[in-house]
Parts: sequence; structure tokens; C-alpha cells
Amino acid sequence: MKTIVLYYSRTRKTAKVAKTLAEEIGADSIEIIDLKDRMGAIRYLTSAIDALRENKTKIKPEEFDLTGYDLVYIGTPTWGGKPAPAIITMIDMCNLKDKSVILFSTMGNSGGENAINRMKEKIEARGGRTVNSFTLKTGKIELDNLGTETKRILEEMDLKNKGI
Ligand SMILES: Cc1cc2nc3c(=O)[nH]c(=O)nc-3n(C[C@H](O)[C@H](O)[C@H](O)COP(=O)(O)O)c2cc1C
Repeated sequence: MKTIVLYYSRTRKTAKVAKTLAEEIGADSIEIIDLKDRMGAIRYLTSAIDALRENKTKIKPEEFDLTGYDLVYIGTPTWGGKPAPAIITMIDMCNLKDKSVILFSTMGNSGGENAINRMKEKIEARGGRTVNSFTLKTGKIELDNLGTETKRILEEMDLKNKGI
């Protein structure tokens, strides 16, 4: 099964999860870059507002060719209980028809399920099928330990062997 991991990460936590995941399951991966500066306290607030309103943003890459991939992982940090704008933007650019999708969200403490549910709605509207999902609390975990936690989740959900 050919698999790809698509993810956005502002402070590298979702990136750590995504990279560990891709390595463990032998998948390709693409990091989505938000071209809007999201760093600093003021931008934290405007970013949360963008996420709540589901405002689109400019991202890189500018297009996604998922031809040949059977399984697509999509990972986002949770922003105000929503997916990050870069992920909302990316989902609307992808042809997900008949793709199996596994969603994951990282969060400080809460709202990850909500972000997953919103992604799920959007993916299903685009003809994709969400087959599994997981959330990961990053608030109390050191960046270095996120890899271990990701491996534990993979094991627990048996994602390494069956994916779906
Ligand atoms: C704008 C913004 C809004 C956030 N909103 C939430 C939230 O609603 N719930 C939560 O638990 N964490 C929230 N967080 C924390 C992130 O979801 C969490 O730290 C995440 O793991 C960061 O992932 P990253 O390092 O890949 O960017 C928010 C962070 C930002 C920047």
C-alpha cells in the first residue's frame, strides 16, 4: 500500500509526530508551509481567529498530486479546536476521491477531537473516506519524547501493519 503523510506544524510538534510516523510505516511525507507569519503573541491570536473562521491561507506546495497513493495521513496542530488554516486550505486543494484517510491532531490539552471531526467532514465532502484517527497531547511532552509516544500509538492502533 502506497502511503503519504501530509502535515503542517508551527512549532515542530506535529512535524515530529508526522516524521516518526512516515519513518515507521515507510511512507512518503510532505510538509505544508503556511506563507503567513504565525510566530509571536499577536500572531498567535490572529492565527486562532483565522482557524476559528476557517480563513484560507497561502501555502506551499501550491498543488498536491495524490495519484497512486492508497492511504493519506493528514496531521495538524489544534488551533481553537479547529485544524490549522494551512490544513483547511490544503484539503480543499486535494483530490481525495476514493482515498482512505487517517487523521491526527496534536493539541496542548483539548479540542483535538473537534479538529479531527471538522477535517473528517471536509474530507468526506471531497469523496475521501476517513478510516482512522488519533489525537496526541503535546503540552507536557518534550519534543524528543513525542517520537516514542507516536510509536506507542502506532503499536496500540496496529497502524504499522494494517494502516486501515
Ligand atoms: C493559534 C493556536 C491555537 C491553539 N489552540 C489550541 C486549542 O484550542 N487546544 C489545545 O489543546 N491546544 C491549542 N494550541 C496548542 C497547539 O495545538 C499544540 O501546542 C500543538 O501540539 C502544536 O503543534 P505544532 O508544534 O506542530 O505547531 C494552539 C496553538 C496555537 C498556535
